[in-house]
Amino acid sequence: MEIKKIIVTGGSGFLGHHLLRALDKAGYQAKNIDLRENKEFETVIADVRDTEKMLEEVKDADMVFHLASLIEAGESVEKPQKYIDYNIDGTLSVLEAMKANGIKTFIFSSSAAVYGEPIRVPIKEDDRTMPVNPYGMTKLAMEALLSSYVGAHGFTGIALRYFNLYGPGEHHEPETHAMPRFIKQIYDDKEVTVWGSGEHKRDYVHVTDIVDAHLKAIKLAEREPEKYHYMNLSAEDPASVLDIVSAVEKAMNKKANVKHFDPRPGDPLLLYADATKAKETLSWEAKISLEDGIKEVVDYFTEYWEKN
Ligand SMILES: NC(=O)c1ccc[n+]([C@@H]2O[C@H](COP(=O)([O-])OP(=O)(O)OC[C@H]3O[C@@H](n4cnc5c(N)ncnc54)[C@H](O)[C@@H]3O)[C@@H](O)[C@H]2O)c1
Repeated sequence: MEIKKIIVTGGSGFLGHHLLRALDKAGYQAKNIDLRENKEFETVIADVRDTEKMLEEVKDADMVFHLASLIEAGESVEKPQKYIDYNIDGTLSVLEAMKANGIKTFIFSSSAAVYGEPIRVPIKEDDRTMPVNPYGMTKLAMEALLSSYVGAHGFTGIALRYFNLYGPGEHHEPETHAMPRFIKQIYDDKEVTVWGSGEHKRDYVHVTDIVDAHLKAIKLAEREPEKYHYMNLSAEDPASVLDIVSAVEKAMNKKANVKHFDPRPGDPLLLYADATKAKETLSWEAKISLEDGIKEVVDYFTEYWEKN
């Protein structure tokens, strides 16, 4: 079946803005469902946990991209029930509406958090999944829920496990992600807060590359229906926290005042993934270098703060 009409949940967030623009440009008809507005795209303001509303809204489409989620690992430790409600019950409500309304393709935002502490790096998809916080647990449960709909109801399911996503337009509240936080701290001449030595490395993937993988995932769903796929989206080029700080310094032409704090417990020194499966199944690989990507993000924020 050729996919033309797409529902995006959570399309008013950071990734959602980029994804909706790309879908529009590629000629897809997309409808956004989110708790908040997206100023560029018409949005149905609704909570994915509202099962009646999902029955009304998740229809007349060929597939769903499910991005809607709470995303704060730290908060999830304090409020696990809230994460179960939003992420697991929210996913169930969308899947049930799809089943009732004859939509069978579901592609969703999973996360590196499903792995917890890696048993080896680079992480491969069939390595141990043992989340270390409720956020990661909900992503793993969402994956399992999806695979059960593939098995029980003939759905086509794709779980995309993103590693550290970054790019222009990242405005989380509160902002817990390192890159936008560092850029703001350097811009404001404030101390740059680094936990531990700053030598721990992470796998950063530019949002444009992630969006490209989503467009390719639509084609995979068309090619291989009624299957469950799960894969890492990683750049396979880990960078340390201090590397990020240096790249931001270079792009801003400004020196950072780095202050080291106690290391955070359970923060692995090296976390990155093998992307072979995404290369083979999607013909995808990350293309944007960290240096170019950071420069773009710095330019974006500098212009944004000058205007706002
Ligand atoms: N940003 C990252 O580094 C990263 C890494 C791995 C996975 N992810 C996943 O990617 C997805 C998108 O991330 P993002 O950075 O764009 O997050 P975001 O917070 O910017 O966007 C999430 C959107 O979901 C909406 N939402 C939340 N709960 C909802 C509900 N119950 N009903 C309707 N809408 C709801 C929010 O209003 C928000 O607009 C999330 O599922 C996240 O878990 C993100």
